[in-house]
Amino acid sequence: MNTAEILAINNVSLSFGGVRALADVSLHVNQGEIFSIIGPNGAGKTSLLNSISGFYQPQQGTIHFAGVNITKLPSHKRAELGIARTFQNIELFKHMTVLDNFMLGAHIHMKAGILSGSIYWKFAEKEEVEIREPIEEIIDFLEIEHIRYQAVGQLSYGLQKRVELGRALALQPKIILMDEPMAGMTIEEKEDMVRFIIDINEERNATVVLIEHDMGVVMDISDRVAVLDFGEKIAEGTPDAVRNDENVIKAYIGGDIELAVETEGSG
Ligand SMILES: Nc1ncnc2c1ncn2[C@@H]1O[C@H](COP(=O)(O)OP(=O)(O)O)[C@@H](O)[C@H]1O
Ligand SMILES: [Mg+2]
Repeated sequence: MNTAEILAINNVSLSFGGVRALADVSLHVNQGEIFSIIGPNGAGKTSLLNSISGFYQPQQGTIHFAGVNITKLPSHKRAELGIARTFQNIELFKHMTVLDNFMLGAHIHMKAGILSGSIYWKFAEKEEVEIREPIEEIIDFLEIEHIRYQAVGQLSYGLQKRVELGRALALQPKIILMDEPMAGMTIEEKEDMVRFIIDINEERNATVVLIEHDMGVVMDISDRVAVLDFGEKIAEGTPDAVRNDENVIKAYIGGDIELAVETEGSG
């Protein structure tokens, strides 16, 4: 294995009944990269992320993380190894405060995911001291001190997305998988999110795997990009190489990847 390589996906295939979500996909992410996955709706992007995080179990292929074969590991074991993710749709405890959502994320990490919501509270007090400090640091990093005691459900969409990012960061991840973190955001919210992604990568030294529809953002911040189409990887390389790739241009009919992608809904 290349020492710079943190994630190695080899020949992964995943089907749901007759639907082939991923067809023999191989790709390799280097330590410290911002690696983006793009492609039309239904191309298999979320399925690939779910296969990395352990939510989906591919029928074929292997996935190695930091040299460890994680292909058969349950998702909480992968989280322990340092794989965190955010979701396409916000998955937070809406009635709980920002702080409690973060604490829960960190507790799940410490207790290897065995805690149900009710048992959580019994451990909460004891562990609070140990995990509070890194969480305060994340709150500070994401500039959300002012909303820490608010119920998540009452926050704006952009802030909820930021809280979800914070919950993933509470795992102190080596790699963070982000599924369309900017979908549905205002331009201002997007700019904030882009800044946080860059800082997570540069200051917190996390490798980033990003699914994003906004080609401007993808081309701007990615070290490398992979393109999926009908479950197959049709290209992988630097933003410039991918943008000019014949197969990519064909997949985004019309020849202009920027224009073609902007007409996509999120999905
Ligand atoms: N849990 C699931 N059950 C059945 N089919 C699924 C499931 N997840 C994804 N698929 C199918 O796999 C294909 C790829 O979906 P997805 O990975 O969500 O694509 P993308 O994120 O690129 O839009 C689609 O045809 C989708 O309907
Ligand atoms: Mg998706």
